Amino acid sequence: MQPLSVLIVGVGGLGKCMVQEALERGLRVSVLVRNRAKLEGELGEESIAKLSKITVGDGTHTKVLDKAMTGVDVVLSGLGADPNLAFELAAAVKRNGVKKLCWPGGTTNVMADDGVTPNYKQLLHLGSWVEGAYRAHGACIDAIRQADINYMIFCPGRMESVGRRSPDVRRSVQINRDAGPFVSYEDAAWVMLEAATTNTYDGQLVSAATKF
Ligand SMILES: NC(=O)c1ccc[n+]([C@@H]2O[C@H](COP(=O)([O-])OP(=O)(O)OC[C@H]3O[C@@H](n4cnc5c(N)ncnc54)[C@H](OP(=O)(O)O)[C@@H]3O)[C@@H](O)[C@H]2O)c1
Repeated sequence: MQPLSVLIVGVGGLGKCMVQEALERGLRVSVLVRNRAKLEGELGEESIAKLSKITVGDGTHTKVLDKAMTGVDVVLSGLGADPNLAFELAAAVKRNGVKKLCWPGGTTNVMADDGVTPNYKQLLHLGSWVEGAYRAHGACIDAIRQADINYMIFCPGRMESVGRRSPDVRRSVQINRDAGPFVSYEDAAWVMLEAATTNTYDGQLVSAATKF
């Protein structure tokens, strides 16, 4: 049987770690980026050579998406908080018969520990951006849910690279709850690829935190 074919849309901080995690898992990995030279600088020759396909273009354009999604099983977005991209990606996933969309949301959209209070209400002391983030991510989540596709939405707190994946990332995962304020790009990529390759997190808002 052929390995799963995944498309990563946008190779920034999270996207780069998703490419590396997917290659480590032996998947067929293709990417959609706006700037090929930037991609080559980010990934380096060795990883670039392992990619099945590189599509250059804007992730909100129908023709670009249809070209990038040909033969793809699962799409993972390396960009969130863009309702237009969420709408276009979800529509293209449906149109192209892709099995699942894995999307990075924001931790503002999961519930607090009590399972009742929306998490953004616990975070309002951080600033007025919190409610804006909740609304922007909420619009993306609505667009994906309304598209009638299979999906997983990852809801991270702040993210950055720490250089390696945690050995116990699976234990830090929370479903529909806040897991904590920070997750490394490496752990976030593990969650996204675990969601892409299993049905464990289908249809859920998932958060995870990196512990030190
Ligand atoms: N970082 C955090 O602390 C954090 C926390 C919670 C949620 N999030 C969500 O997680 C997402 C990923 O985070 P990140 O830190 O990895 O972001 P990032 O480093 O800014 O990466 C985003 C990538 O998306 C690409 N992109 C933007 N618009 C595009 C388009 N129309 N078509 C194709 N590619 C496009 C950018 O490419 P270019 O190089 O061409 O601009 C960039 O490489 C964020 O977008 C955010 O919504 C992030």
